[in-house]
Amino acid sequence: MLVFGGQSAEHDVSRATAVAVARALDPAKYDVVPVGITTDGQWHLAEDAQKMLAAGRDALPPAFSVEGDVVPVPSASVTVATNVVDVVIPLLHGPYGEDGTVQGVLELAGLPYVGAGVLGSAVAMDKIAMKRMFAAAGLETAASLALRDGHDVDEFVGRVETELAFPCFVKPANMGSSVGVSKARNIGELRDAIDHAFTFDEWILAEEMVRGREIEVGILGDDPPVASLPGEVVPAADFYDYADKYEDGKAELRAPAPLSPEQTTEVQRLAVLAFDACRVEAMARVDFFLRDDGVFIVNEVNTIPGFTPISMYPRLWEVSGVPYAELLDRLIDLAIARSQRRADRRGRQR
Ligand SMILES: Nc1ncnc2c1ncn2[C@@H]1O[C@H](COP(=O)(O)OP(=O)(O)O)[C@@H](O)[C@H]1O
Ligand SMILES: [Mg+2]
Repeated sequence: MLVFGGQSAEHDVSRATAVAVARALDPAKYDVVPVGITTDGQWHLAEDAQKMLAAGRDALPPAFSVEGDVVPVPSASVTVATNVVDVVIPLLHGPYGEDGTVQGVLELAGLPYVGAGVLGSAVAMDKIAMKRMFAAAGLETAASLALRDGHDVDEFVGRVETELAFPCFVKPANMGSSVGVSKARNIGELRDAIDHAFTFDEWILAEEMVRGREIEVGILGDDPPVASLPGEVVPAADFYDYADKYEDGKAELRAPAPLSPEQTTEVQRLAVLAFDACRVEAMARVDFFLRDDGVFIVNEVNTIPGFTPISMYPRLWEVSGVPYAELLDRLIDLAIARSQRRADRRGRQR
C-alpha cells in the first residue's frame, strides 16, 4: 500500500514520488494499492487515488517529472482492508507524515511500514528535540536558540544578536523542504523571519550561520545502519530554499561528493551516530555542513527523504551499488522484519 500526498507543503513532491515508486515496484512481486491523502486531509482509495497518482506525474517541473504512463495498478478497485495489506510505504513528507503521526496510526492498525518508527520520526521532525539528541551524542551542531510563540520576542532578538550574530537562520521547529526557513541579516529581517516561522509552528529556532558546503549521507538498515557514499548539494540560490529544491530546480546534486577518502569515512561515521542518536530505523538522509575549517556540523536527519529517482537519497544508493528497485525491495524487507520481531516478542510474553 502506497500512501502519498498529504497535508504538508510537500504534497506535490509526494505525488510525484508515488508515481516513480509505483512504476519501480516489480509487478510480479507486488500488488500496489494506492492511497492518496488530499491537502485537506481526506483519504482517497481506488479510482480516486489512481486519479491523484496520474496527476502526480505532472505535479513537478520537468527536471523532476517521471516519464511515461503510470503503471496499471492491479488492485486499485479492491477495497483496502488491513488484512490484504502486507506492507505500507508512507511517502508523505513533513508534518502529518514524517513526524510519527501516520506511523502511530499504522502501529495501531498492526500494519508493517517502511522507515522510522514513531519515536525516531517525531524526534527527527522537531529541530529543537533533534539538536538536543545530537548534542547528547557528542555531535557538533550549529549554535541555536529556541522560542515559543507568545514569549518575549525582544529578549530573544537581543540574545540572537549577541550570542549568534548576523547573518543567522530562522526556522519553524517542525517543517521540511525549507518551508518557513529564512536568512536574517539584521534586526529588521530577524523580526520578519520570526513572524514568518511562527506561521508554521508554535516553536521556532534561530541558528548561527555555518559557512561551508552541504554534504548528505543516506542510511539504509538499522542493525547496523549502513551509510551510503556522501553527496553534495550546491545551491543555486543564496541558500537551499524551497524554490531551489523544487520550483527552479537549479541546485546541483553531486553524487558522490568530491571529498577525500578520510572525509568520506568521517562523515559516514557521523551520519550513523546522528541516525542512532535520534533512534531512527531503516531509512534516513543525514545532512551536514562541511564547515570551511574542515569540521562536519550535523544539520538534520530526514526520515522520509525525497524519493524520486533523481532525488539525493536514491541517487546516493545507486552510486553505492543499490539501484532504485532493489532499494525499495530492501526497505520493504526491513519493514516486514521489524514487524516480525515485534510479533515474536509479543509471542514470548505469553
Ligand atoms: N545554520 C545554517 N547555516 C547555513 N545555512 C543554513 C543553516 N540552516 C539552514 N541553512 C540553509 O537552509 C536550507 C534549509 O534548512 P534546513 O535546516 O535544512 O531545513 P529543512 O528541514 O526545511 O530542509 C539548508 O539546506 C541550507 O541551505
Ligand atoms: Mg534540509
